[in-house]
Amino acid sequence: MSGESIRLRRLRRTSALRAMVNETALRPADLIMPIFVAAGADRCEPLASIPGVNLLAGASLAREAEAIARAGVPAVLLFGVLDDAGKDAAASQAVRPGNAVCEAIGRIRNQRPELTVIADLCLCEYTDHRHCGILREGRIDNDATVAVLAEAAVVLARAGADIIAPSGVMDGAVAALRRALDAAGMSHVALMPYSAKFASGFYGPFKAASQSTPQESHHATHQIQVGNIREALRKIAVDVAEGADMVIVKPALTSLDVLALARDTVPVPLAGYDVSGFHAMLARHCGTDEALRRELTREVLTCIRRAGAKMIITYSAKDIAPHL
Ligand code: PBG
Ligand code: ZN
Repeated sequence: MSGESIRLRRLRRTSALRAMVNETALRPADLIMPIFVAAGADRCEPLASIPGVNLLAGASLAREAEAIARAGVPAVLLFGVLDDAGKDAAASQAVRPGNAVCEAIGRIRNQRPELTVIADLCLCEYTDHRHCGILREGRIDNDATVAVLAEAAVVLARAGADIIAPSGVMDGAVAALRRALDAAGMSHVALMPYSAKFASGFYGPFKAASQSTPQESHHATHQIQVGNIREALRKIAVDVAEGADMVIVKPALTSLDVLALARDTVPVPLAGYDVSGFHAMLARHCGTDEALRRELTREVLTCIRRAGAKMIITYSAKDIAPHL
């Protein structure tokens, strides 16, 4: 056919045609809303570093769960924020039944039983030195850390978590968590590790919000260096072999190539994490222009899905879901 008879604009002419040929739908069902939870009867404190996101406890947490479910978002991802007084070198709060995160899980379960509750699991929120694991001679001890994570996973599962999301990128964590959960009669609880988690400066606002910034970072010893896609794919494969039910790629926007490759080679559902640094940048760029923020958010999330993510973890989930 000659150049004049091939006209791609024919399928762009009406919104009905554009909808018919749309390849990448964005639906509320794909979204996961992160929330920061603390101990207490009622707390709702804006997190200065993550615009629009609050630290929640008690009645306010229940209200937020209600709002999230009403917006059509089916899942939440929980992060515990502890007072310094509760932190120690052994991360002992992480394995205490009834800790702040367990309490929060109960609240959400109670308020909206149909919400899928995903519990993030890393020791940086529980250690007084704020590293992501148990230290031995100043270094993160992989196996000692994994042992604590396995115990903590059972505590979270017993509190009602549907999915545990180990985020510290330790070796053998998925296998150990699977074994511990099964032994505790929790074989129905799924594992969603942060497998392709790159060492990134874009977690900055999150680290500030969760008060888990260590004095001297050891992240390069467990998170993946940003240039290494083969290593990221290998870690995904290892975690899947160990029993991961789903895997997270993060930060999503700087890992679209990883998502694109993983989509065709990884046999489990993929989640992309639209991280705090990008959320903060977008919020700053848009200021008070809500419509612009929605438009840009939709574009960003669509591109994360186009690259290969089935699910998207985003601080915008609750805001954008009713507009999809
Ligand atoms: C670890 C964890 C982090 C994030 C999610 N889980 C921080 C880190 O690993 O340093 C970052 C999320 C974000 O930046 O939005 N608990
Ligand atoms: Zn951590």
